[in-house]
Amino acid sequence: MSVTPTNFSGRTVIVTGGGSGIGRATVSRIVDGGGIVVAVDLSQERMDAVRAEFGDRARCVTGDLAAAATIDAVLAAAGDRVDGLANVAGIMDGFLPTAELTDEVWDRVLAVNLTAMMRLTRAVLPGMIARGTGSIVNVSSEAGQRGSAAGTAYTTSKHAVNGFTLSTAFFYGPKGVRCNAVAPGAVATNIEAPFHSEWAQQRLGPIMQTTIPSVAQPAQLAAAIAWLLSDDASNVSGAIMPVDGGWAAV
Ligand SMILES: NC(=O)c1ccc[n+]([C@@H]2O[C@H](COP(=O)([O-])OP(=O)(O)OC[C@H]3O[C@@H](n4cnc5c(N)ncnc54)[C@H](O)[C@@H]3O)[C@@H](O)[C@H]2O)c1
Repeated sequence: MSVTPTNFSGRTVIVTGGGSGIGRATVSRIVDGGGIVVAVDLSQERMDAVRAEFGDRARCVTGDLAAAATIDAVLAAAGDRVDGLANVAGIMDGFLPTAELTDEVWDRVLAVNLTAMMRLTRAVLPGMIARGTGSIVNVSSEAGQRGSAAGTAYTTSKHAVNGFTLSTAFFYGPKGVRCNAVAPGAVATNIEAPFHSEWAQQRLGPIMQTTIPSVAQPAQLAAAIAWLLSDDASNVSGAIMPVDGGWAAV
């Protein structure tokens, strides 16, 4: 797979979940394109590795995005100007179907996959509006387009990510701010996705085996995220873009 660099010189971009998988590949792409990244991740070890590789091109924040204090720390690290925001961090839900859901799983999945995204987006918008420019890219999922790709909490969170993306795009388009989402299919990352429900495994297993066309590399997702962040996508807002090897067409 060849990768064409995107120009990010002079830009500062926040990337959540920057320590692994799609987030890590996005950090790499932005730094390679001459940008500065503010990377945030729960894992100290992963943030140390990002710092070691990218030096002062990547300002690293370790913390739980479900905590308001982490959002504040990210904004402090970014400083006055944020040109782009990539809301990448997310967690799975053990594929739990509705009748087997616990409040704990529901609350945690929605806090990380949805509420953190809202808080960070809400915080960067005033600066983007004041400058009349900015790009926000949210990571959704094929589970945001259908009911047969994850458990109920994750599926709900990713459908909500799509709604959040459209609403934000609608309200702030006239202010020069674009908001889009990518919807990955299966990607080879460190995300933990064990089945914690026998019924879900029975119900989803065969469907997933026959409908998922391919497993992508994180760099293939990062390429799409970088494009949406960049001026090459200046006329694109409110798009939920499948980057899934064709799964959405099944
Ligand atoms: N891998 C896939 O097959 C796939 C498919 C569809 C969508 N996605 C979405 O892609 C996004 C990235 O996932 P990935 O596959 O690269 O996973 P990953 O686990 O490799 O990377 C996610 C990173 O986010 C961090 N993170 C998780 N919770 C956090 C929190 N509360 N605060 C701060 N950091 C936190 C993790 O420590 C990890 O480093 C997620 O939103 C996920 O839902 C992934």
